Amino acid sequence: MRHFLTLKDFTKEEILEIVDIALEIKKDLKAGVYKKELENKTLAMIFEKSSTRTRVSFETGMFQLGGHALFLSNRDIHLGRGEPVKDTARVISSMCDMVMIRTFEHSMIEEFASYSKVPVINGLTDSYHPVQLLADYMTMVEYNLHKKPVVAYVGDGNNMTNSWLMLAAKLGFELRIATPKGYEVDTDILDDALHMAKESGAVIKVMNDPKEAIRKASIVTTDTWASMGQEDEKEQRVKDFDGFMVDSLKMCLAKKSAKFLHCLPAYRGQEVSEELMDLHADIIFSEAENRLHAQKGLMVWLDRQRG
Ligand code: CP
Ligand code: NVA
Repeated sequence: MRHFLTLKDFTKEEILEIVDIALEIKKDLKAGVYKKELENKTLAMIFEKSSTRTRVSFETGMFQLGGHALFLSNRDIHLGRGEPVKDTARVISSMCDMVMIRTFEHSMIEEFASYSKVPVINGLTDSYHPVQLLADYMTMVEYNLHKKPVVAYVGDGNNMTNSWLMLAAKLGFELRIATPKGYEVDTDILDDALHMAKESGAVIKVMNDPKEAIRKASIVTTDTWASMGQEDEKEQRVKDFDGFMVDSLKMCLAKKSAKFLHCLPAYRGQEVSEELMDLHADIIFSEAENRLHAQKGLMVWLDRQRG
């Protein structure tokens, strides 16, 4: 039985296999074909943070696959009142077939997984957001951006950056990360990625100059400057990230055919300009829609692993 906690635990072939299933499932859906591969299965979804895309895509995805999803916010279940993670894991995994968790500390999800009898999916932690990267890579494939991409990530060294690091390190492409000083990526995660890059041929560069990162890139991406849980730092961060907004002027440095990705929610006028969001709306909202298809692919893949 496999969990999906970070892309670090997956091979390149496995990542590509999940995305292939997702592309197939999307094709079926567009043709009006619903294969009920998870009939009678239930997915428990534990949310300790807000969500629009993750909740809607997992819940809708599970329904379309013939199963059922339970939305469990920490305001409603005893986990939020101090019931231990290990007890919650034992109980929920004795009744449900899969669990998706969105939480703060990555160690919480690791602990949950270690006591769970069913696959656990990371729906975002402070450290990683791997399901987002499945949708991002799927979008790269659809827009033919996946062959030798040069990806520039501009902004905060956060869970999205860490997940891009894992994807680049596994698939072997070039990733340049530009963060302001003091907001660099976690050094342990960077070391992990650099270590894996030796095997995959990935080129990973970290810097503090957004323009240097964007120059001749084929994909430019960013994320909010203040992630969930960092609301109190927002004001200070807006000052510290001065000069890091991705706008059309900076995009001009990238390849002419370059595309802009954003995991959303986007804060226009901060990490991205309104104009750039409009110019790249087609790919950005395909990326968001692909959360549905990618996660259906993932749930089917995890279920098949169990036999
Ligand atoms: N990108 C993403 O995970 O969005 P939500 O926070 O809305 O789920
Ligand atoms: N880094 C952001 C991603 C939101 C999808 C956050 O953790 O809030």
